[in-house]
Amino acid sequence: TSLHEPPHETAELFTFPQPRATGCPFDPPPAQRRPATRMALWDGAPCWMVTDYQDVRTVLSDRRFSADARIEGFPFFAPGRRAFIRDEPAFIRLDDPEHQRLRRMMTGDFLVKRVDQLRPRIQRIVDDALDAMIAKGAPADLVADFAFPIPSLVICELLGVPYEDHEFFQRQSRLVLDATAGAEQVKAAMDDFNAYMTELAASKKGEEDGIVARLASREDLTPGEVASNALLLLLAGHETTANMTSLSTLVLLRHPEQLAKLRAEPELVKGAVEELLRYLTIVHTGLPRVAVEDVELPGGAVVRAGEGVFAMIAAANRDEEMFGAGEELDITRDARRHLAFGFGVHQCLGQPLARVELQIALATLVRRLPGLRLAVPFEQVRFRTESLIYGLHELPLAW
Ligand code: HEM
Repeated sequence: TSLHEPPHETAELFTFPQPRATGCPFDPPPAQRRPATRMALWDGAPCWMVTDYQDVRTVLSDRRFSADARIEGFPFFAPGRRAFIRDEPAFIRLDDPEHQRLRRMMTGDFLVKRVDQLRPRIQRIVDDALDAMIAKGAPADLVADFAFPIPSLVICELLGVPYEDHEFFQRQSRLVLDATAGAEQVKAAMDDFNAYMTELAASKKGEEDGIVARLASREDLTPGEVASNALLLLLAGHETTANMTSLSTLVLLRHPEQLAKLRAEPELVKGAVEELLRYLTIVHTGLPRVAVEDVELPGGAVVRAGEGVFAMIAAANRDEEMFGAGEELDITRDARRHLAFGFGVHQCLGQPLARVELQIALATLVRRLPGLRLAVPFEQVRFRTESLIYGLHELPLAW
C-alpha cells in the first residue's frame, strides 16, 4: 500500500490510550510498528504518525515543522489536549525566536556543571527518602515514598516553590497530563494550577532566591509568561523523573541479570540510565508538530503544509539499525543516541538534572537494598497508560 493514501485506520491509531502488546507493558504499542502513516485524528484533522528514527529526527530538527500549538493544523490527539495550551504558551509550545528568548533565561540553571554541583544535595535527598521508606517498613510503595519525593524536592528548591504544596501540584500535574480527561476537566485543572503559580510569582517579585523569583522580577516578562514557563519547569521537573525512577526499578527487577550486573559494577549506572531512557521512552504518546511547508521525509513520505505530525520517539528508540536488538534491554550498550529527551531546539532543557537524579536514585537503591523485590505479582502492577507520561500508579516493594 502507498504511504500517501487517504486517512485510514483512525480508530486503531489515535484512540487513546493505544493498546500496548499483550505480554510486555514496556514495549511501544504494536500500532507504531509501521512506517510513516497518514491518518485522521478524532476531529477529522489529517495527521501523520512518524516512527522511523531518521524521520523522527527530521520532524524534530527541521524548521519547517512548528511546535506552536496556535498554528492551524497543530495536532491534538484528544479533546482535552487543546485546553492544555495557554494564551501565553510556555516555550515548549513556541518557535524561535520566541522559544529561544524564553529558554535562554533558564539554560544557565540546568547546565551540566551547575547540576554537578547539586550532586551532594541530591544524594542527601535520596538517602533521606530511603531512610524514611526503610523506617516505615516493607512493603512500601516506591512511587509515593521514593520516586516522587526526590525530583519534587529538587525542583521545588531550584524554583523556590514550597514543598508543602506538593500534594496540590502533583495532583494538578496528574490531571493535566491525563490524556483521557475531557476539555473542561483539563481547563479547570490548568486554571487552578496557573492561578497558584501567578500568585506565588507575584509574592516573590523583587526577591532573588530561586528561578520563580528571578523570572517574576524581570521587566521583559508578563505575569502570564512567568506563570506558564515556571509551571512547565515544575511539571516537567518532577513527573518525568519520578516515573522514570519507578519504571526503571520495575524493569530492572524483571531483568535480574541486568540488575546483577549493575550491582556488581556500580560504575555502569550512567550507561544504564541512558539505556533505560531509550528502552522505556516515557513520553510515549509522541511529540506533536505541524508542517508549515511541504516536507519530504527521509523515508519518502510527503507531509503537506498544515498537516499535523506525531514524532513517535518510543518507536524510533527501538530502531534495529540504530540500536541493534532494540527490543532488548542491555545496560552495557551505547544508547546515547536515543531520542527520549527529544531532538533539535526543543531537546529537554532539564536532561542534565534528570540524568543526575536518576543515576543517584538508582545507584543508591540498588546499593542499599540488596534484597529488593516486588511485593505483589507483576500482573497486579498498574501502569499509567492514560497519561502523556508513562509510568506506574504504585510499585509495592519489599527488601
Ligand atoms: C522538553 C523528556 C526531565 C524540563 C522535553 C522533551 C522531551 C522531554 C521528550 C521534548 C518535547 C518536545 O520536543 O516537544 C524528558 C524526560 C525526562 C525529563 C524523559 C526525565 C527522565 C526534565 C526535567 C526538567 C525538564 C527534570 C526540569 C526542569 C523540560 C523543558 C522542556 C523539556 C523545560 C522544553 C524544552 C524546549 O522546548 O526548549 N523533555 N524530560 N525535563 N523538558 Fe524534559
